[in-house]
Amino acid sequence: MRTQVAIIGAGPAGLFLALLLREAGVDSIVLEKHKRAYVEGRVRAGVLEQITVDLMERLGIAARARREGLVHGGTNLAVGGSRFHVDFAELTGGATIMVYGQSEVMRDLAEAADQRGLNIVYEAEQVSLSDVDQEIPLVAWRSGGLEHQVRCDFIVGCDGYHGVSRSCIPSKLLQSYERLYPLGWLGILADVPPCEKELVYASHERGFALASMRSPTRSRYYIQCPLDEKIDEWPDERFWDELCARLGDETAGKVTRGPSFEKSIAPLRSLVCEPMRWGRLFLAGDAAHIVPPTGAKGLNLAVSDVIYLSEGLERFYSNGSRALLDRYSARALARVWKAERFSWWFTSVTHRFPQMDAFDRKIQVAELEYIRNSRAAQTALAENYVGLPLTRH
Ligand code: FAD
Ligand code: PHB
Repeated sequence: MRTQVAIIGAGPAGLFLALLLREAGVDSIVLEKHKRAYVEGRVRAGVLEQITVDLMERLGIAARARREGLVHGGTNLAVGGSRFHVDFAELTGGATIMVYGQSEVMRDLAEAADQRGLNIVYEAEQVSLSDVDQEIPLVAWRSGGLEHQVRCDFIVGCDGYHGVSRSCIPSKLLQSYERLYPLGWLGILADVPPCEKELVYASHERGFALASMRSPTRSRYYIQCPLDEKIDEWPDERFWDELCARLGDETAGKVTRGPSFEKSIAPLRSLVCEPMRWGRLFLAGDAAHIVPPTGAKGLNLAVSDVIYLSEGLERFYSNGSRALLDRYSARALARVWKAERFSWWFTSVTHRFPQMDAFDRKIQVAELEYIRNSRAAQTALAENYVGLPLTRH
């Protein structure tokens, strides 16, 4: 088998890239280790930057998001229960974000992939990459009990943090920058109306909490917890009590409780691997970098990566120029590091860390109170949250 681009992973990075390449007339195959239902069912991101919504529009897959997505012009912060609002639209000249679940984005991507006849192999086992630094790399996998292989011009690793692509790069050529936080987010989904129209990020002595949503009838709530916390120790009532204590009375009074139908813990991590390329292998999305979820940046960074990469591939196939492909890693990393900084900072000022003493908490509160009262500080938060602009070429 022969193709132009072999994409490993059918998460957001992999499917957005495959659709972009189709638009540019470039052939691809996508190899995904899980079943389609699993990939679409994973409950993860909720906040889309304008660049992500714009890409969905450009690819002709935004009709449902336009109908069902919730456009937010700002967000709320609560400090020890006392709330204030940050008006993104007013501070940034009109920018907004859209609350639309990653599982909905995945459904829209997969439906478009079906309609456009993209070649996606689900349940591809033991995917392996070879000849990555040669002219014509090879990707092999097993499916349906048979061995398969494809030769290609380029491989793109869109296989997330646990994928195989990153580990193919010789460790002496890959620099990793990592920060582990001794914390996780315990998240629930429940079919109850959200407590507020826009999100509430709450920093409290007891720890961080976030009130988010998926629709006018479905809420998504998170509380920070120790990394080794057991989900079984968090029956719904305990979760609701802790959430309400951290949100504070003003917000808690509007929380509707109900049975959760999803409950999981996600660890917090910052990671960047440089460069995002080795030979004919490119990395995109979580395969190359991870952010703690506080800034809502992970999915949106996967999108900026594949926009940049598709421009490089399109240029290469239209006139043979490698210039944009050669700049891919530096271009992508420039945006990634700014989002890493923002996500790290927003995490550090809102979460309770085990080593924190009373002084540290006072400093945190002072920083959040500064944001409450300073238009300059609110503008810095707003422009990072709505997403920094893409660079042109
Ligand atoms: P993934 O979504 O991880 O996809 C990788 C795919 O590769 C998977 O389908 C996987 O099965 C497949 N794969 C892995 N290994 C192999 C292999 N060996 N062979 C073949 N296939 C393989 N981001 C935001 O922008 N906004 C938010 O509000 C937000 N909230 C979040 C909340 C939580 C609780 C979590 C956990 C994450 C959140 N994120 C958010 C981050 C976001 O979900 C990720 O950054 C995003 O999914 C990255 O997409 P990706 O395609 O790079 O990787
Ligand atoms: C979500 O709704 O899942 C969500 C929202 C904002 C974040 C992270 C997750 O910062």
